[in-house]
Amino acid sequence: MKTLFTNISSLVTANSNGAIKKCGKEMSEIGEIKDGALLIDEKIIWAGTTEEAEIKLQSGEFKLERVVNMNGKTILPGFVDSHTHIVFAGDRSNEFAKRLRGATYQEIAAEGGGILATVNAVRNSSIDELVENGYNIAMSAIRYGTTSMEIKSGYGLDLKNEIKMLEAIKELKSKLPITIKSTFLGAHDFPPEYKNNRDKYIDLICNEMLPAVAEQKLADYCDAFVDKGYYTIEQGERIFRTALDLGLKLKVHADELADVSAASLAARMGAVSADHLLFISDKGIADMKQAGTIVALLPGTAYFIRMPYAPARKMIEEGLAVALATDCNPGSCFTENMQMILSLAVINMKMTAEEAITATTLNGAAALELSDKMGSLEPGKEANFIVCDTPSYTNIFYHFGVNHVKDVYVRGDNVINN
Ligand code: NIG
Ligand code: FE
Repeated sequence: MKTLFTNISSLVTANSNGAIKKCGKEMSEIGEIKDGALLIDEKIIWAGTTEEAEIKLQSGEFKLERVVNMNGKTILPGFVDSHTHIVFAGDRSNEFAKRLRGATYQEIAAEGGGILATVNAVRNSSIDELVENGYNIAMSAIRYGTTSMEIKSGYGLDLKNEIKMLEAIKELKSKLPITIKSTFLGAHDFPPEYKNNRDKYIDLICNEMLPAVAEQKLADYCDAFVDKGYYTIEQGERIFRTALDLGLKLKVHADELADVSAASLAARMGAVSADHLLFISDKGIADMKQAGTIVALLPGTAYFIRMPYAPARKMIEEGLAVALATDCNPGSCFTENMQMILSLAVINMKMTAEEAITATTLNGAAALELSDKMGSLEPGKEANFIVCDTPSYTNIFYHFGVNHVKDVYVRGDNVINN
């Protein structure tokens, strides 16, 4: 149904004039239209001012079925969360309590907790349980304004359970009202059965898991946790070469716990994005700039495990395209709320509100290679947007810790009414 929304006090289009991402200074341009109007069906048809829309209505140029007066609300593109681990089982609140008493994320992992605790829970869960848990978190994310997301495997760490996770994600693709991309993260940690023979697990990933995932078309991307204590550059490179040969594109968990030059590996391998990057070096930034790698920053993780934040300002000043995502997972960052990520990005990473909006919309979509279809409110793109009960986009940052989203539209359908 053709619908015209009028009297939008702040219509943030994130207009990119056809560009698939915004780099550096361009991230400050969010294409705000004051007293805006938006014409949609399943796609965006037109965006302009209410005054222009009225002229087009009177002249008969707009023939509509419905006009909705927004009475001064704000509209933004829906958030694109390009990095999540929302398919999991179990609960690690006990570890969280230990961390509050002073233990570090790495100490808990060394005791056999951490990722491996969730692996144990996932191996003991049915696919239906995984789908139900993932569905509930995704629906909650949508209520906070997310209109597309990526979901990773990585808590199975053997052929059967990684496939089970990817099948759960596939089921979520059909059950959820939003676009989902899926990522194979068999190289998340080393399973207990290969603790003393790590290279044998890499053999399993390359010789059995990746070929099965590719053959069954269960993943859009292959990711690996290339970091201190996890996968080495050489191991990551071997996995990524195999994935590329099988037609999968790459994402990298890079330099989250220490600088191991994983950002440079991501650049060299042509990864679509390198994510985390808390400890990235200047060389890593330069390599990614040259390769055009999108960086996905996850400030919720730095916050939740009390680590230094990624150097967002430096990356933007160097001209990188920065995206922001939740990293929602049961250990290092348990939030699916992209508005929380916006707040952390502006307060703790010193991004501006405009940069943070670009990073959660257009650049988030670019990190999932979806920005030709979504991520900004431009004619021809999917009508994925959120209605916030605020007079301006600035108020979303100013009044923090509450859900500003009233309505969520995906492909023109009002999927959430908060
Ligand atoms: O992105 N870095 C590795 N993996 C997750 C943590 C997963 C977990 O603790 O369960 C992350 O931070
Ligand atoms: Fe992650």
